[in-house]
Amino acid sequence: MIIDPKGLERRDLNALMNGLVYPRPIAWVSTVSADGERNLAPFSFFNAFSFQPPVLGIGPGSRQGVNKDSLRNIKETGEFVVNTVNEELARTVNLTSAEFDPEVDEWEVAGAEGLPSETVRPERVATSPASFECKVKQIVELGTEERPSNSLVIGNVTRIHVIDEALDGYNPLPEVLNLVGRMGGPLWVTTRDRFALPRPDSRDPNEVQPEAAPK
Ligand SMILES: Cc1cc2nc3c(=O)[nH]c(=O)nc-3n(C[C@H](O)[C@H](O)[C@H](O)COP(=O)(O)O)c2cc1C
Repeated sequence: MIIDPKGLERRDLNALMNGLVYPRPIAWVSTVSADGERNLAPFSFFNAFSFQPPVLGIGPGSRQGVNKDSLRNIKETGEFVVNTVNEELARTVNLTSAEFDPEVDEWEVAGAEGLPSETVRPERVATSPASFECKVKQIVELGTEERPSNSLVIGNVTRIHVIDEALDGYNPLPEVLNLVGRMGGPLWVTTRDRFALPRPDSRDPNEVQPEAAPK
């Protein structure tokens, strides 16, 4: 099947894109509005795009042209915190994705405890295994006025918090982090099933490089 996305209904495109691009990591995003109201919601249009400098991107959408609360807050303040999500947190995180009115405090819905950030106003989630304080670098609007869509929020990471037991030096330990991801529809995925592929040597790709340096 060859599909021209222009001809598809929003619902079908959603199913296709989310069902084909996976696993997507999950950002549990903490923000505050200009007048200090806090918000917490999950976004799986999320990834890292650079490590030096550390840059993350999230893709919060709109509701029929009205920015979701997280996006509105980010536009108002230029700040957000990405909290990572492990298996233990998954169900709680899912609760905070309900379409609440802006005045509902998802922190209370989740029973989540906040800890102060160092460089931004939104708090980080105490039980998240790793969190990133971020300041907006750029926001790219992906929709048009007739067809509103998500915004690509690109953030510079200004602090990284990781629980001590999940680090061996600066190497995060996946078995301790136990992060989860999102697939299509209601499907989530664990990261318990892993395999290692050492970086190949360009002179002989079948030979393993003695010390594979990151690109
Ligand atoms: C795991 C998960 C991932 C999600 N990813 C996104 C996403 O990338 N973009 C988006 O607009 N909504 C996403 N949603 C839906 C939002 O979480 C939901 O619309 C939420 O109510 C937004 O909250 P806010 O209005 O407080 O910002 C996701 C929901 C879940 C459960």
